[in-house]
Amino acid sequence: MKKSILFVAAAMLLFGSMNLRAQKFEHLADTPAMGWNSWNKYQCNINEDLLKGIVDAMVSTGLKDAGYQYVNLDDGWHGQRDADGFIQCDAKKFPSGIKSLADYAHSKGLKLGIYSCCGKLTCAGYSASLGHEYQDALQYARWNIDYLKEDWCYCENVNPKGAYALMRDALHDAGRPVYFSMCEWGSNKPWEWAKDTGNSWRTTGDISCNWDSWTGILDQNKVLRKYAGPGHWNDPDMLEVGNGMPVNEDRAHFTMWCMMSAPLILGNDIRNMKPETSAILLNKEVIALDQDKLGVQGLMYLTQDNVEYWFKPLENGEWAFCIFNRNKDAKKCTVDWQKFNFKDDLSTCSTDFNTKVYSLRNLWTKKNEGTTKKIKTIVVPGHDVVVYRLVLKK
Ligand code: GLA
Repeated sequence: MKKSILFVAAAMLLFGSMNLRAQKFEHLADTPAMGWNSWNKYQCNINEDLLKGIVDAMVSTGLKDAGYQYVNLDDGWHGQRDADGFIQCDAKKFPSGIKSLADYAHSKGLKLGIYSCCGKLTCAGYSASLGHEYQDALQYARWNIDYLKEDWCYCENVNPKGAYALMRDALHDAGRPVYFSMCEWGSNKPWEWAKDTGNSWRTTGDISCNWDSWTGILDQNKVLRKYAGPGHWNDPDMLEVGNGMPVNEDRAHFTMWCMMSAPLILGNDIRNMKPETSAILLNKEVIALDQDKLGVQGLMYLTQDNVEYWFKPLENGEWAFCIFNRNKDAKKCTVDWQKFNFKDDLSTCSTDFNTKVYSLRNLWTKKNEGTTKKIKTIVVPGHDVVVYRLVLKK
């Protein structure tokens, strides 16, 4: 009898502690992450001066006030491991060390992110975390790191579920809350198994700065909406806004990322932005769609003539409504709201245009454009969007 009680107690302790280990940090991603990352613009050409300049620009441009908080190193910050196996930074690129950079970011009210990989090497060939997970997590905690992006190169014969869970546990045991960004490009359908592992998972291969790339990614990401939610988001990759596309395409790219509740990780040189770029990245009303507390990824409701009609349920019974014109030429769209009466099964929200009247707030022109009582004609320029917040009339 006594023995069996002891056995049960031991089992409870064991399973109890296993449960404890299988945890990620709470409330690091109640809404999608917002920040900046070095890869899209600089690849491995990164250094302390650049990063400090980015930290400064996050503040001076108003990006920090708009909600962007992470400044993330991507591939190429690494030096060698020391005699005990602890990873060091490249001392030529980062002479003051990573902790000093993190402290600098923190002194400005920002957070610092870092990059590694589940394999032996990072994609660019630097020393990565396979076999060093706990050491790396400990080192990041010592450096006061707040965010880890973990990539998927050199991972032949590595089990993705095990590899990412191992790093999650290592981060958890190191004790410092770290946002965990999984970057295995959707290769193993992480949306099906990583809800309790990461705060976000890449759903596709790498973005590049052109229309075909990001619209292709959008098509892959939009069908995964049911897997996203507070704490665990689909990540269609970092933004290319400000890296060379025409302003209409930048605007559409940014808006669609917000409609899809994507992490908003900037990839441009925010120290030198054209006014039209900062106008996009600082549009708080569009950002608010992405950051809405309901945390429901938007849905493409209808597509007609290469024009897509998207809805995103928002808190307090409101909606975002976006028309995305994939044609090169402008399209005149007649919107009969009564054709958009539907219930979104995922969120259980209904548009109820037959019983409710919404006023129309155009989020790019920042003008109020009447209500949903009347049929509306909307001209959407080529490769562009028109997006409204449907505000409930009291
Ligand atoms: C992969 C990732 C990119 C970037 C590079 C760095 O391709 O998907 O986002 O981190 O590696 O080498």
